[in-house]
Amino acid sequence: MPLDARHPAIELEDVSFSYRPRQPVLTGVDLAVEEGEFVAVAGPNGGGKTTLVRLALGLARPQSGTARLYGEPARSFSRRDALGYVPQRAQLGTQGPVTVREVVSAGRLARGSLLGPLRRGDRAIVDEAIADVGLTALADAPLGNLSGGQQQRAFIAKAFAGEPSLLVLDEPTAGVDAESQDALARLLDRLRRDRRVTTLYVSHEFGAVEDIVERLVLVRGGIVFDGPPRTLPAEWHDPSHAHARD
Ligand SMILES: Nc1ncnc2c1ncn2[C@@H]1O[C@H](COP(=O)(O)OP(=O)(O)O)[C@@H](O)[C@H]1O
Ligand SMILES: [Mg+2]
Repeated sequence: MPLDARHPAIELEDVSFSYRPRQPVLTGVDLAVEEGEFVAVAGPNGGGKTTLVRLALGLARPQSGTARLYGEPARSFSRRDALGYVPQRAQLGTQGPVTVREVVSAGRLARGSLLGPLRRGDRAIVDEAIADVGLTALADAPLGNLSGGQQQRAFIAKAFAGEPSLLVLDEPTAGVDAESQDALARLLDRLRRDRRVTTLYVSHEFGAVEDIVERLVLVRGGIVFDGPPRTLPAEWHDPSHAHARD
């Protein structure tokens, strides 16, 4: 069943959230991300980016306000298989030696309708996702043998393998070299053009995607800027300002 295109992919209305009483992390957040948009979410460490993403995906409950995905309450969204989420510092648990291909295949299985072994078409999609992140040569290597950046790319491939309508990447470039960051940015741009994948790219710095995104959302206890990156006030470029709460 296609997703309901009459509604924004993500919709937060006057959302406030705190982990502890009287210590608000986010206040009065309004955000609508339309289908097919590529949005960078930036801001200082501790500003609330990860929290905002978790609220948007229905993984945390706002103290006040509403969060919707494609028009449905985010907490009870019926099409989880349409979401690709790479959490910050995605890490393998203690499941023992798992190969890159197995991790990425799990992203294909998670699509829901599939039971049993992957079909040939699914295997091709898994291979393509592995190639997209440049890990073909390491496809059958245990994930534990890979560098942090390579592991991160494997988790990104896992999300790709589910062919999501909405892709949310939280700090996908932590530990990833500049060349791979650029490659990822180009890949995300292509996915948006070819498949209209709605993308939320969360990073405390957005240099790698600055030329690609049409919209930048700055999060610091709330949304303090929302617009094209080129219209970002100079004060927000100031590193001392951006990292004031580090
Ligand atoms: N599980 C948690 N319990 C308590 N406080 C938290 C938790 N997660 C995050 N915080 C606090 O909430 C604030 C926002 O964190 P976070 O959303 O992770 O910001 P960002 O992703 O921008 O670095 C920070 O002050 C952080 O310490
Ligand atoms: Mg974070």
